[in-house]
Amino acid sequence: MEVVICPNEAEVGAVAADRVISSIAGNQTPVLGVATGSSPVQLYEELARRIEAGEVDLSHGLAFALDEYVGIPPEHPLSYKETIRRTVQEPFRMDPARVRVPNGFAPDLAAAALEYDNAIADAGGVDVQILGIGTNGHIGFNEPTSSFSSRTRVKTLTRQTREDNARFFSDGEAVPTHCVTQGLGTIMEARAIVMVASGEHKADAVAAMVEGPVAGVCPASILQFHPKVFVVVDEAAGAKLR
Ligand code: F6R
Repeated sequence: MEVVICPNEAEVGAVAADRVISSIAGNQTPVLGVATGSSPVQLYEELARRIEAGEVDLSHGLAFALDEYVGIPPEHPLSYKETIRRTVQEPFRMDPARVRVPNGFAPDLAAAALEYDNAIADAGGVDVQILGIGTNGHIGFNEPTSSFSSRTRVKTLTRQTREDNARFFSDGEAVPTHCVTQGLGTIMEARAIVMVASGEHKADAVAAMVEGPVAGVCPASILQFHPKVFVVVDEAAGAKLR
């Protein structure tokens, strides 16, 4: 695991963009794994700038999102389908058919989750997976004590995650209780992983992931077993590293 500590969030985005691009160098049809949330916003904006400048072309690639809320219609502005459309699909100039998000509105969620996991494998697997980390150490929505070998499936969101994500929802709008998320086993199959984290509220989770024991209480700690992980953090998120 290589950890880079940057002076600020903008630099986190720039360094992470370098890592994403170097991970797929020479690959005209890269398979990207994409996270939602606040953490990758600067990274996506930086990649979009480089696409605009003609430095990189991701339009022939594929993108697979990490997760989706259960019970939110895909066209809802806070669905991850819609978030990925705004932050990845359009800025990366990808045809909608090249971008997949788990279906949290499927009548048979378990079957849809299995089909999603198989679709990633059929695409040849993820070349570079972009990750954020939850304050409780989750990646994707693999909450503490998730199985290290888990595949894409339905999970219950913890109270902490629902409180953390309440900021995206307007007053009175309930934060979903469940999600469909790629499993830890699915994520670990990505050939390279770029994790971004900013802010002091991430410092405990980052320290546990990088320096703590590999343990289910911090799902992200499984990344210690992955051969190619770049962790890019700002000084606040890296403040508890030894
Ligand atoms: C999002 C995801 C989550 C987030 C994490 C951090 O698709 O899978 O693991 O990366 O909850 O969220 P932010 O970046 O909003 O702090």
